[in-house]
Amino acid sequence: MQKLLTGLQPSGALHIGNYFGVLKPLSDMQKDHIGYLMVADYHALTTLKNPEELRKNILDIVRDYVAAGIDPKKLVIFQQSQVPQHTELAWVFNTLVTMSFLELAHAYKDKEARGLETNVGLFDYPVLMACDIVLYDTDVVPVGQDQKQHVEYTREIAAKFNRQYGETFKEPKEQILESVAVVPGTDGKKMSKSYGNTIPLFGTKAEITKAVMGIVTDSKGDRPEIVYAIHRLFKDESKLEAFYRENKGNYKTLKEVLIEDIEAVVAPMREKRASITDADVKQILKEGSDEAREAAEAKMRDVRQKVGVLLS
Ligand code: ADP
Ligand code: TRP
Repeated sequence: MQKLLTGLQPSGALHIGNYFGVLKPLSDMQKDHIGYLMVADYHALTTLKNPEELRKNILDIVRDYVAAGIDPKKLVIFQQSQVPQHTELAWVFNTLVTMSFLELAHAYKDKEARGLETNVGLFDYPVLMACDIVLYDTDVVPVGQDQKQHVEYTREIAAKFNRQYGETFKEPKEQILESVAVVPGTDGKKMSKSYGNTIPLFGTKAEITKAVMGIVTDSKGDRPEIVYAIHRLFKDESKLEAFYRENKGNYKTLKEVLIEDIEAVVAPMREKRASITDADVKQILKEGSDEAREAAEAKMRDVRQKVGVLLS
């Protein structure tokens, strides 16, 4: 069986872009893959400096994963910070990776271009992400389109280590679900919490309604394309096309039906989410992190041996 690993930053409420980009494909993939789902808390620390918020987000995101259909018996759910081998390997990789290589990374270039603070952790973000992936001999990394470059970086870093010290790491492949690779937000740009254009995945019906009513409608074409692009994620397109034709120009009706179709998918998940306690989440994370640590330590022993810090 192929092994997968993916991670999500615990940096706020999930939106439907995260769901269709990662969580849904993952709940399908868990049927015929083994692998890991990681809470990237040390990655989140590059931007989130509020300890109470971080703690809450970590618990919430695991609740979100499980409510969205991820089964902790099928995929190991763990916390990055509880497996210190990740940051340990990052140091070893830091001694191989060049500054100029990291300067070309999108996430860093974008932040810099927007005049935001670029701490060293943010600069080094792709290196830590490479460690997350290669420590477990991962075959495939399911992510949204925006993470593709990070997986390419991972392959290059793994290959560089292998050339320097001998075959140690597998080079992973990304898996991007093309049809929904970029879920548009309410303004038509990529849905992202940093653009404030999201439809929340676990929002109340009132919150979902507010977001949907705010979707920008374009009166030029035959149908409001952003509304349609979001709607097709929730309903079969064969039914949708006729419905949009019949209700041409009637944006209010189209949006009301979209809200009902979102509710039909989201309401059962919201109920499941409410039944998962903090104690449940802590137990899942403890068991998952223990299991991940064991695998990561075996790999790190090999690395320490190969680079020459292990003396026997
Ligand atoms: P955000 O852009 O809201 O900050 P993140 O960067 O935390 O989202 O993304 C978490 C995961 O969800 C990533 O793997 C990313 O590719 C995926 N993802 C985020 N937004 C979308 C989107 N609009 N469409 C598809 N996938 C997305
Ligand atoms: N960078 C990813 C994001 O922003 C999160 C992440 C961290 C990740 N480590 C990972 C994703 C390893 C896949 C594999 O969404």
